[in-house]
Amino acid sequence: MKNKKVIITGGLGFIGSHIIERLNDNNDIVIVDDESSGKIENIKHLDFSKIDTTLGSINSINLEEVFEDCDYVFHMAALTGVFQSVAKPLNSNNVNITGTLKVLEAAKNCEIKKLVFASSSAVYGDTKSLPINENDQINPLSPYAVTKATGELYCNVFSKIYALPTISLRYFNVFGPRQDPNSQYAAVIPIFIDKILKNKRPVIYGDGEQTRDFISVKKIVDANILAAESKETGAFNIGLGKSTTINQLFEIINNTIGSDIMPIYEKKRPGDIKHSIADISKAKSFGFDPDYDFKDDLMDTVEWFKNNF
Ligand SMILES: NC(=O)c1ccc[n+]([C@@H]2O[C@H](COP(=O)([O-])OP(=O)(O)OC[C@H]3O[C@@H](n4cnc5c(N)ncnc54)[C@H](O)[C@@H]3O)[C@@H](O)[C@H]2O)c1
Repeated sequence: MKNKKVIITGGLGFIGSHIIERLNDNNDIVIVDDESSGKIENIKHLDFSKIDTTLGSINSINLEEVFEDCDYVFHMAALTGVFQSVAKPLNSNNVNITGTLKVLEAAKNCEIKKLVFASSSAVYGDTKSLPINENDQINPLSPYAVTKATGELYCNVFSKIYALPTISLRYFNVFGPRQDPNSQYAAVIPIFIDKILKNKRPVIYGDGEQTRDFISVKKIVDANILAAESKETGAFNIGLGKSTTINQLFEIINNTIGSDIMPIYEKKRPGDIKHSIADISKAKSFGFDPDYDFKDDLMDTVEWFKNNF
């Protein structure tokens, strides 16, 4: 992508900041972020001369003013905590559904070329058939998952009735530098790295034989750019298409750090699904093909944490 004007809602967050990092050299960037979980620090290493930042909520700022003359929207802004959504479903609904609707409305009125929506594998719930395919029935099990499923439906409707090109990417378990290990909603990889680097024993819930599909944030950025430039619409799985058990993950991180610390096993958490792996054949239609060994990116992530925490 070159010489475009690109909006990233939630651009100060983990994934948004990586999209900006990739596009910053050749494009003009417009960020909309209310700093609720994102931080300016996440983009402090970038060239600010081509970045315009509007600090405020997608729910309250005049998005049409901000979106004017822009080409693409990468809509990352959301309240991302599953447990947070269980505690305060109205808040999740407000940002992730009403906010998304406002972003779509502004994108339509500003004749945006394509809107890429950050959806989630959470929409599937605890599916029986593996690998998970986009034709499988969705079964959201939390208010967060409901908001992502609803966002996808709104995207489809805006494409169909208003001719706004949209695409929804169902990310699986994303990891990489700048993912916050201290957040209440932190993901397993930053928590393991952070604890092991501090010589503390991480907790594994259940027997550790549950599987997840871990995908590097670099590949998530690839998927976003390919999806924006493609003609495809609808929902697409974005994962590695391979599964790793939590025990294997722990061992890889332990070995990478050169530690022999043991985990603490605790009772399985209610609501935790047993297995997850994406069928990524549909996303191959727009060129997404993350055929690589995720251990290299895991090592880069460990290095980043060593230098930054
Ligand atoms: N990280 C993952 O593994 C993962 C998996 C599936 C889906 N997703 C989705 O990807 C997107 C990005 O996730 P992330 O991991 O980078 O999360 P993040 O919390 O780091 O980023 C979200 C960003 O949105 C901003 N934001 C929140 N509410 C806002 C509002 N009302 N107005 C403007 N900005 C607001 C936050 O300040 C933050 O910068 C989210 O939509 C999330 O649901 C992430």
